[in-house]
Amino acid sequence: MSQPTVSTPRFNDEAATRAVRLSIRPTAGERAAVVDRMRRYRFVFVTLGEARGAAETLEFLAETFELGEPFVPEAYRSRRFDSPLSDIRKDASSAHPGFATDAGQPMHVDGLLESLGTVRTSLLHCVRQAVTGGRTILFDACGVFDRLRAEDPPAADALLAGDVLERFATIPGVHESSVGPAFEVDESGRTLCRFSDGPTERWHPGPGHEDDLERGLSVLRREAASDGPYRISVPLRPGETLIFANDRLSHGREAFVDDPRNPRHLVRALHTTPFPAA
Ligand SMILES: [Fe+2]
Repeated sequence: MSQPTVSTPRFNDEAATRAVRLSIRPTAGERAAVVDRMRRYRFVFVTLGEARGAAETLEFLAETFELGEPFVPEAYRSRRFDSPLSDIRKDASSAHPGFATDAGQPMHVDGLLESLGTVRTSLLHCVRQAVTGGRTILFDACGVFDRLRAEDPPAADALLAGDVLERFATIPGVHESSVGPAFEVDESGRTLCRFSDGPTERWHPGPGHEDDLERGLSVLRREAASDGPYRISVPLRPGETLIFANDRLSHGREAFVDDPRNPRHLVRALHTTPFPAA
C-alpha cells in the first residue's frame, strides 16, 4: 500500500459554493471550470444558462460530462422506487425513509447496498428550497481518514477492515444489508469512502480492535459534527444542481421546514462513472 497522503483541508473556502454557469452549448472554458472544481473540492454547483426541468437538466449534465445512464441502486430495483431519477420531498404517502421526510439525514454515501466505489457520482437538482433548513452537508471523510492514516495507523486499519461496516435497508419489505470496509485505498493511492454513520449502519470491529475502531470513529464523528475544514453545509437553490463524488465524500442533510403548498423538492441521479475520470 502506498504511503498516506494528508489532504489539504479545503472546505472552508467560500469559492467552493459559487455555482458555475453552463451555456446550453458549454464552452471548453465552462467545462474546464466544472472539472477543476471537482478536482479541487470533489463537488461543484452548476446552473444552466437556460431554465430547464429537473429531468432534462440531469440528462444534459450526464451527456455533457459523459456520465452514462443513471444507475438504479440494488435496494430500489423491482420495487416501488425503481425510477432512475429519485424525487426527494416530504411525502406522507411515500414509504422511503430518507427521501420522504423533513428530518435531518446523517452522514452517508449513496448506494446503501452497493459495494464501496460502485456509485461514483451523485447529482442533486433543486426544484424548490425549504422555507428554512434543508442545507446539504458535504463531508470530506477521505481527507479525515488520510489524516488518521498518518496520525493513528491502527485506527485507520480498523476502518479499512473488509467487514467493519454493515449497512442495512430500512425500506419496508427490504431485508438486506451489505458488509464492507468504510474506506479503501486504491492502486493509485487514492482513498475511497463508504463512510456512513446513522440508523442504517452497524459497526463491527475485528476481535481486539474495538479501541482502534472507537478512536477512528471518534475522530470522524468530531469532524463530521460541525462545519470546518472537512465539512461544509450549503443551501441548494432552485435551478442549481450539485454534482459530487459519492466515492470520495460523505454527505447528509439538515432538517427543514416546508411551505406545504410549495414543498422542498430535489431530484437525484446516481452514476457509476467517476467524474472527472480517474
Ligand atoms: Fe444521499
